[in-house]
Amino acid sequence: LKTQVGIVGAGPAGLMLSHLLAQSGIDSIVIEKRSRREIEETIRAGILEHGSVKMLVESGVSNRVIDEGYEHEGIELRFNGEGHRIDFRDLVGESVWLYPQTEVFKDLAAARDRDGGDVRYSVSETGVTGITGDDPRIQFTGEDGVEYEIDCDFVIGADGSRSMCRKLIPEGTRADNFREYPFAWFGILAEAPMSAPELIYARSERGFALISQRTETVQRMYFQCDPTEKPEDWSEARIWDELQARVAGPDGFELKEGPVTDKIVLPFRSYVCEPMRYGKMFLAGDAAHTVPPTGAKGLNLALNDMRVLHTALTEFYANGSEKLLDGYSERALGRVWKSQHFSYMMTTLLHNMPQASAFDSRRQLAELETLVSSRAGQTYLAEGYTGWPNA
Ligand code: DHB
Repeated sequence: LKTQVGIVGAGPAGLMLSHLLAQSGIDSIVIEKRSRREIEETIRAGILEHGSVKMLVESGVSNRVIDEGYEHEGIELRFNGEGHRIDFRDLVGESVWLYPQTEVFKDLAAARDRDGGDVRYSVSETGVTGITGDDPRIQFTGEDGVEYEIDCDFVIGADGSRSMCRKLIPEGTRADNFREYPFAWFGILAEAPMSAPELIYARSERGFALISQRTETVQRMYFQCDPTEKPEDWSEARIWDELQARVAGPDGFELKEGPVTDKIVLPFRSYVCEPMRYGKMFLAGDAAHTVPPTGAKGLNLALNDMRVLHTALTEFYANGSEKLLDGYSERALGRVWKSQHFSYMMTTLLHNMPQASAFDSRRQLAELETLVSSRAGQTYLAEGYTGWPNA
């Protein structure tokens, strides 16, 4: 097989790049070890920055996000049992869209089908060679059991947080910037009506809770838990008691309950690989970085990597210049670190540290008070949540 750009990973990141390249007349082949069905059924976050929505719509992927997603012009920060709305529209003139990542994947996969894209799911035995020379190749065994090799100009590692491509960068060349957190998230899907018009990020003495949504009849909620917690130890009644306790307050606010159809304990960490390039290989999305989930930056960041990479590859194929390719890592990392900071800030602002003292707890409440009582503070949060302008 021969193509211009070989892409490892057909999650939203890999498919978005393949789509953008096709729009610019550049060929690619995408390979993926999971089945299409498995990706469609893996529940991920649900908030798109306005720039991500614009990218999906303006590049011609689909208008479904506008037609079927929900525009949110703010969020609620809840602490001391009181809600404080952060009004994105008023503060920064922007909004975000509630539209699950699984739907973004379905739209991208359908757009690749529609436009004749070459995407191969359920492959195995993936290998990458020749990235430090002039002969990059990707080897894999197809779903049909046949061994293939792709001869390409560049390899894109968009193969997720357990990236095989990343490991091709020698340890001495690669900096692994890690941070662990002493907690995790317990996530549920519930068949219930929405409890509030917008998302609620709640800080309580019992720990963080996030009241998110999916549709009029399905809701997504999370609460901070110990990383060793087992979903099977949590009955429906216990889950609702915990969530209700974390949002309760003098205003009498209560969540609308319903059957819990999915429960999962989600890992929590920060990671950045530097640089995001090695020879003819470019890393993007979760393969290069992981953010803690608070603030839903992961997918948005992956799409930004692809926007930057697409511009650089287009420039290369238009006039042979490698200038933008050489600048890819630094340019992408600018937003990666801003998003790392934002996700860290949202996390530490709202979660309980297991060893927190009374001082720590009072200081955290003062941080929240300072933020919501200052237009400058609210604006800072709104800029980060809705997404900074492109660099
Ligand atoms: C969702 C997840 C997040 O981490 C977040 O900050 C907002 C929403 C979600 O899954 O809906």
